[in-house]
Amino acid sequence: MPSLAQASRAAVDALGALPNAIDPFALSLNENPFPPLPAVRAALIHAVDAANRYPEFLPESMRTMIARHIGVGAEQVVLGAGATGVVMQVLQAVTEPGDRIVLASPTFDGYPIFARIARLAPVSVPLDERGHHDFAAMAQAAAGARVVVVCRPHNPTGTLESIADVERFMTRIPADTIVLLDEAYIEFVAPDYRIDCPDLVRHFPNVVVLRTFSKAYGLAGLRIGYGFGSPQLTETLWSMQLPFGMDITSAVAVAASYNAEEQLQQRISRIVSERDYLRRRLSTMGVYSTDSHANFVYLPPASRPWREVFTGLLVRHYADGGVRITVGGRVATQAVLHAVNDSSACCVSGIGGVR
Ligand SMILES: Cc1ncc(COP(=O)(O)O)c(C=O)c1O
Repeated sequence: MPSLAQASRAAVDALGALPNAIDPFALSLNENPFPPLPAVRAALIHAVDAANRYPEFLPESMRTMIARHIGVGAEQVVLGAGATGVVMQVLQAVTEPGDRIVLASPTFDGYPIFARIARLAPVSVPLDERGHHDFAAMAQAAAGARVVVVCRPHNPTGTLESIADVERFMTRIPADTIVLLDEAYIEFVAPDYRIDCPDLVRHFPNVVVLRTFSKAYGLAGLRIGYGFGSPQLTETLWSMQLPFGMDITSAVAVAASYNAEEQLQQRISRIVSERDYLRRRLSTMGVYSTDSHANFVYLPPASRPWREVFTGLLVRHYADGGVRITVGGRVATQAVLHAVNDSSACCVSGIGGVR
């Protein structure tokens, strides 16, 4: 049994291990730089007071709330511990060990991990030189695969395939291959470029659209994600919905976030303008970045390794020498620009290094 002193020491340590909500230089995980909105925070505190109670057995009310918000039937929505939880739920429901999963390369770091946990065989299809999916090659690979993943916007490049290209791609995918359309960053995309996903899943019953409260909604620590698709597909997924799997704060956080939509929109607009400013400034310095529609920018490998340029900043470096930088506030932007400016041999980055 730990002594009282040891026990309180552990509590202090645990509190000390919490990440800082405000950290201008945390630019590696595509988190939201803003802490929870006051109304969301107040609702969360209220919900914590009921932490001695279980949440709903299955998250029916959150399901209904989200379904109404996006314009689909409640039976079409499933929930998970972040989009991560939903992906694992889908893989568990529709795959057998040894099945193939088609992934762009590079892609969100999670996917190779999820594939490994589900014991799937990943088939990697390199992005093209501007960081876009090679849909022709992916469609070909999909012929022998159980699952295909398309991130729109893509991580790490932030690029966005056109609506027409995505629809054309879907027509080339076998009806029994599941397409995960990962829209983790969709709220950062201009409305004209968003796919009408409720309509998409009506036409393509093999598609699951993935969304999260971790990015634009700024609630990464709460682990709330959802997926939606055709009723026939989500019926199977919902049958595997974990009992008591979403914690007691999540429904409250979703409701409070939807209520605060206008304030959230202002934050999203700030992040988007900061991203555009950062890309413009980099461009005037001769630094190419891919056409990002998300809350990060991606710089392909350059003549000088980006690791030597961004020494004091927490950014995400890739094995091939590319780097992904989360968009923060102006202080973060200035730090990124200073780092580039200060690095002498910098940094004429051509395109063609995305792979
Ligand atoms: C493309 C993409 N999908 C899914 C996720 C997982 O998000 P969540 O926090 O909802 O699990 C991320 C996280 O970075 C991501 O970049």
